[in-house]
Amino acid sequence: MAGSFLTVVAREGGRLVGAGRALSDGGLYAWIHDVVVVRDQRRRGIALRICAMMVDALKERGIPYIGLFAAKGAAPLYERVGFTRRPDDAPGMQLYLAPEFEEG
Ligand SMILES: CC(C)(COP(=O)(O)OP(=O)(O)OC[C@H]1O[C@@H](n2cnc3c(N)ncnc32)[C@H](O)[C@@H]1OP(=O)(O)O)[C@@H](O)C(=O)NCCC(=O)NCCS
Repeated sequence: MAGSFLTVVAREGGRLVGAGRALSDGGLYAWIHDVVVVRDQRRRGIALRICAMMVDALKERGIPYIGLFAAKGAAPLYERVGFTRRPDDAPGMQLYLAPEFEEG
């Protein structure tokens, strides 16, 4: 998190209940990663608020492009804050350089 361009965390009382972060070159591109909400607080709009705050903050910093890869089932969340899906024949690509990060 410390090396991120932007981080947003959600707390309820003193408890950390959600987070999201963006990586960026500070000019043209930002990528949203690691949007997560603890299980017992899901479907309360926390991720929506985290994403909306990140989009607003990146817009304020003049970043014109935000990309992300939505986890299975998560695309509707990002659509709610303005993202559109890339076409099926031109989706993102990925290269796992550390086996422990491979999807199981
Ligand atoms: C995905 C995740 C971050 C959503 O967090 P959340 O706080 O529950 O999401 P919100 O309550 O803000 O949901 C806002 C909207 O996003 C969509 N949404 C959220 N979770 C969804 C799900 N599991 N399936 C389908 N749509 C979903 C819905 O449109 C929802 O609105 P609604 O509740 O009025 O129907 C959470 O389920 C999570 O941490 N999952 C594990 C980590 C993960 O997969 N992160 C995504 C990485 S791309």
